[in-house]
Amino acid sequence: EKGGYEHFMLKEIYEQPSAISDTFRGRMLADKGIVRMAGVDDNIERISNAKRIIIVACGTSWHAGLVAEYIFEDLARIPVEVEYASEFRYRNPIISENDVVIAISQSGETADTMAAIKLAKEKGAFVFGVCNVVGSSISRETHAGAYTHAGPEIGVASTKAFTTQITVLTLMALKLAKHKGTISHPDFMLLLQEMERIPGKVKLALESNENIKFIADIYKDARNCLYLGRGFNFPVALEGALKLKEISYIHAEGYPAAEMKHGPIALIDEHMPVIVIATKKGHYEKVVSNIQEIKSRSGKIIAVVTKGDEEVRDLADHVIEVPETMELLTPLLTTIPLQLLSYHIAVMLGKNVDQPRNLAKSVTVE
Ligand code: F6R
Repeated sequence: EKGGYEHFMLKEIYEQPSAISDTFRGRMLADKGIVRMAGVDDNIERISNAKRIIIVACGTSWHAGLVAEYIFEDLARIPVEVEYASEFRYRNPIISENDVVIAISQSGETADTMAAIKLAKEKGAFVFGVCNVVGSSISRETHAGAYTHAGPEIGVASTKAFTTQITVLTLMALKLAKHKGTISHPDFMLLLQEMERIPGKVKLALESNENIKFIADIYKDARNCLYLGRGFNFPVALEGALKLKEISYIHAEGYPAAEMKHGPIALIDEHMPVIVIATKKGHYEKVVSNIQEIKSRSGKIIAVVTKGDEEVRDLADHVIEVPETMELLTPLLTTIPLQLLSYHIAVMLGKNVDQPRNLAKSVTVE
């Protein structure tokens, strides 16, 4: 059942090329410039006229929501807020009929997310669900939705659900952008064509596995780890840190790279591994200067870079390459090495990777 893999988590990491293509297949005709999503098409006016989109979710799904915030605002020019479902439901939020709420949940059973949906519906918002489990409670409670076609995710640490959530939300943003006229036709076509190449590029990113294993072995005894990223890759840093915490029990924090100097830089010394997402597009030079700041304080730098990068290679202790892609799609690639790094560290430490202590696959109690 693990298809020859030692753990479900590893199997699910390796399933991402097909999970992503299964998620866009049938929805996207890249050469014709068509994105079809019944749940969006049937409600296109309601969604594209939203004054505001509020995304509610927990954990990894909340991180996918943060990536989506950057993508929706960039492409569709609709203001987005991303909320922890547990906070949203208890703080008397301001919601109106002009708002669209997007609930993201792999299991479709998370209690706090469910309660947030019910509250949003009571206040008249239109609620759209992004779930993986067909027929789940959340998929039934929402007005419309789109499934991720990741297939069953058994490992407690979410991997392929995350990248397929980003895939669905990107298609949705592209569709809204096209409808609203906030994206040019050439850009729309380029993004669709590049999306089609992502599964192949994820495959290439997976080829760094041995290099990542080598790095994992060096840092497996670290007590703390810092993850940094900017822009579209800031939420990827948060997700990388969560993956490490969950399965290896090493304390890790994710930060926007520029926030480092507002506090976390005090933590940096030769015992602190810092994982930096430093892909070529999007604030590259700024990330390079963040890396210099870490280096001058003797922090150990593991950088996720675009294939062929030399500038960061000279500065970092280790680099992990991912293929080049359009900036907006980089999270689908940069996430992969961070999943593998956590996986290998946890295995080397002898932890129960598929069922980490104290965690459940779906959190049906608050
Ligand atoms: C992290 C993880 C959890 C879930 C969270 C939400 O790897 O698995 O943080 O992402 O409990 O679960 P869903 O998406 O099922 O609502």
